[in-house]
Amino acid sequence: MKNIINKIAYQPPGQFEETRYEKIHNVVFDTSDEGSKLVAAEIAALIRKKQANDETCVLGLATGSSPIKVYEELVRMHKEEGLSFANVVTFNLDEYYPMPKESIHSYHYFMHQHLFNHIDIKPENIHIPDGMVPKSKLIEYCIAYDEKIASYGGLDFQLLGIGRTGHIGFNEPGSHINSGTRYVILDPLTRSDAAPGFFGIENVPRAAITMGIRTIMQAKRIVLLAWGNAKAPIVKRTIEGEMTSDVPATYLQKHHNTTFVLDEEASQELTRIKTPWLVKECHWDDELIKKSVIWLSDRTEKSILKLTEKDYNAHSMSGLMAQEGDPYHINIKVFNWVQHTITGWPGGKPGADDTYRPERALPYPKRVLIFSPHPDDDVISMGGTLDRLVEQGHEVHVVYQTSGSIAVADEQALKYARIMKTYQPGNKLLDEIIRDLKTKEKPFEDSLAVRNLKAQIRRQEAIGALTYLGVPLDHIHFLDMPFYETGAIKKKPLSMEDINLVQNIIIQIKPHQIFAAGDLADPHGTHKVCLDAIYKSIDNLKTEHFMKDCRVWLYRGAWHEWDVPQIDMAVPMSPDQVLRKRKAIFYHETQKDGVVFQGNDPREFWVRAEERNHQTAVKYNKLGLADYAAIEAFKRYKF
Ligand code: F6R
Repeated sequence: MKNIINKIAYQPPGQFEETRYEKIHNVVFDTSDEGSKLVAAEIAALIRKKQANDETCVLGLATGSSPIKVYEELVRMHKEEGLSFANVVTFNLDEYYPMPKESIHSYHYFMHQHLFNHIDIKPENIHIPDGMVPKSKLIEYCIAYDEKIASYGGLDFQLLGIGRTGHIGFNEPGSHINSGTRYVILDPLTRSDAAPGFFGIENVPRAAITMGIRTIMQAKRIVLLAWGNAKAPIVKRTIEGEMTSDVPATYLQKHHNTTFVLDEEASQELTRIKTPWLVKECHWDDELIKKSVIWLSDRTEKSILKLTEKDYNAHSMSGLMAQEGDPYHINIKVFNWVQHTITGWPGGKPGADDTYRPERALPYPKRVLIFSPHPDDDVISMGGTLDRLVEQGHEVHVVYQTSGSIAVADEQALKYARIMKTYQPGNKLLDEIIRDLKTKEKPFEDSLAVRNLKAQIRRQEAIGALTYLGVPLDHIHFLDMPFYETGAIKKKPLSMEDINLVQNIIIQIKPHQIFAAGDLADPHGTHKVCLDAIYKSIDNLKTEHFMKDCRVWLYRGAWHEWDVPQIDMAVPMSPDQVLRKRKAIFYHETQKDGVVFQGNDPREFWVRAEERNHQTAVKYNKLGLADYAAIEAFKRYKF
């Protein structure tokens, strides 16, 4: 155990060439699961050590999405390994204000749901700021909170997340390094990030009580968790930037026992990860050559074929020239790689030499299986490619993994129910649906009848879009994966039943190509679960004969796009095809005009998709490649 924990044990940052830009010690894991387990192991070891010495262990705890897996692991250790919390005292970082404890939005509720209800901590040892303290008592309440922490000898360990504003706790930009626990106003970005959980930004409280920076900095050990690419820019700013009250997390640069635990995506903007040649001698494999030359072209604002020896030298890439020789050859090599990703034949071009094409010419036609997590990701993310595949004579099947019912607004469902009612005035089910919709207490908690109607609406929208693109009805499949069908935002874990559904459709179609959403940034994590189910199915089936003949392509789209070096297939679209794609997206009417789950980007899905596809085309053009109206991008998944 000790060895494992050593992996995240504190080391002074910036002590090696490679980390010389870094002012905070950090460790990167392949996945957040792995990182979370080690953090939980460190906390458990601390609790046990204190227990052995008959001491109290004082933990500072965070809420939000980042620590959830740490809490899951602590609960598992309690249940399976007898880890006791009898000697543990906890202080939570913050609470919304005003906020009653019982509210499902309170951090009080969150902590009990995820941790306290499942372990043997003494209730009197739990401290969470009270979101209902009268305003007149707030100041003394906050001072008392800090005094209470001090009375236990301070925090032994503080767990943190980081907000995209750079907040820790709710210490938003402008917070003072000496601040204590206090009442604060939330930054608009923080409120917008919290909006999906509150069913709309208008319901997110404007204020909170938070532990201060001083309170946090007095902890003996601090571990900050950051997962996912949305956190990458603020993680870089915090670790490498100057200390400033504009990014309160940078104060942690002054704390001498802080470790940031990151997954690959959150670390991707760090200099040593993004541009390793700037900080160390590199082993130049093809992937790094491609990445660095594309970066150099962007940095110098020159197309690839115009890069010179001087450019390479001035950007720490002389090692690449030492290995590969003249920049002229390197430029041509990389230019060709990128050039060869472009194809107007996403299913392969029959009769053509396919040596340098992303897809094989044969077999032709191909059986193509497009997985779409929600009914609309297919057309939003790869509508142009789908259109071409159909037009080029392939047998295209589209599989909708979830019903997407939760994203249909109540008013929309009511509208359809009322229309049907005019045809069937005596229909009891319709009465029930209308009553359920009108009397519903909690938003996003639908009765089964309402859910079915909403799912049906999305089905018909998807069928409309695909019919427009020429996909026959018997090639449209709806899996309604059970993990999604809870009738609420919170989903069930992925089960064998889900995986079997995905697996069976692969066995049924025996595809030559699978397209799947590798877009992991959707707000409720559904895309990730859907992709996990596909990966597991592929893993189970990989020895089957038909799978040897199958290529898997990952698309992204509604939320973010592949970077150019990651792209293995780029499918250009003409201005007319862009319009056809737009029209196909328009069939998803319930997802237009102030959609229920907008995320942080106020633009409609079709606008975002067009902007992304256009941007990819611009990037290719700037590298010196042909000038297309738009490009859809895919990364190959090798199994
Ligand atoms: C939570 C807290 C916040 C969060 C931060 C990140 O108690 O104080 O600082 O840690 O907003 O939130 P998630 O983890 O949801 O990304």
